[in-house]
Amino acid sequence: MTLAKADTATKVAEDYYDSDDADRFYATVWGGEDIHIGLYQDPGEDVKTASRRTVEYMAGKLKPLGPEHRVIDLGAGYGGAARYLAKTFGCKVVCLNVSETQNRLNRELTAKAGLDSLVTVMHGSFEDIPFPAESFDVVWSQDAFLHSGNRQKVVTEAARVLKPGGRLIFTDPMQADTAPKDALQPILDRIHLSSMGSVGFYSRELQTAGFETANFLAMTDQLKTHYSRIAEELAKSRKLLAGKVAEDYVERMLTGLANWVKGAESGHLAWGVLQARKAATSHA
Ligand SMILES: C[S@@+](CC[C@H](N)C(=O)[O-])C[C@H]1O[C@@H](n2cnc3c(N)ncnc32)[C@H](O)[C@@H]1O
Repeated sequence: MTLAKADTATKVAEDYYDSDDADRFYATVWGGEDIHIGLYQDPGEDVKTASRRTVEYMAGKLKPLGPEHRVIDLGAGYGGAARYLAKTFGCKVVCLNVSETQNRLNRELTAKAGLDSLVTVMHGSFEDIPFPAESFDVVWSQDAFLHSGNRQKVVTEAARVLKPGGRLIFTDPMQADTAPKDALQPILDRIHLSSMGSVGFYSRELQTAGFETANFLAMTDQLKTHYSRIAEELAKSRKLLAGKVAEDYVERMLTGLANWVKGAESGHLAWGVLQARKAATSHA
């Protein structure tokens, strides 16, 4: 049986994030429970602090948010954002993630934090969200749609599960709308994908899917700083990781990080916070 492009991409992401190498790398070098691009106040800042700031910044955009609201985090990683949202606002959060390795740690951390009555961790794909229409007030996602082989479906699914007037907020490492395709090939090859999203792509798809407002806060410099910082930290932790993360994984990661930094420097990449609101009247 041949898998469709979207299924293949999901399987690639699942196998990658389930692997011991990736699990140990992300849990130690990247940012612990937050494995996304950070917001740096200075370029030498600690990765964890900057990564948590992204969550705080995005959460600030969602106020007012309270115990009456339901949030779904698409591609939730180890659940750092979900726990932050639940703890800060008392809202209920579903973590949807295709990596069961990450889900296991997410459940442990959530139980340890005493948040299991508010945070639910589920295995599943954001290309086929296992919830009925109009289930959530907020759809949240950080640096995960990149892994999709069908981002149009992801946007349609986000619109479907949002209540009328519900909000979508996400970040995604994207290509600049003007980027020549060849320039991104080394990045695409490493993540085994044929394309990346772009602001133009998301704006069009959001509108088609029934979102009435959308805006993008561009912060591509943060992508550059973040990948540079991760490369520095990885180089520093090499000894510590010996025997835990394969040498060739570390080598490939360092090459991949350098590609991201180069892509950002040449203006071919984009990153920032995208926000959209679903039309208040449902036409479903
Ligand atoms: C870079 S990590 C970001 C994790 C988390 N959002 C964070 O910021 O800490 C990307 C995440 O997307 C998840 N992912 C990739 N493809 C997915 C899919 N089709 N459905 C659900 N999750 C997916 C991965 O398992 C991983 O947890």
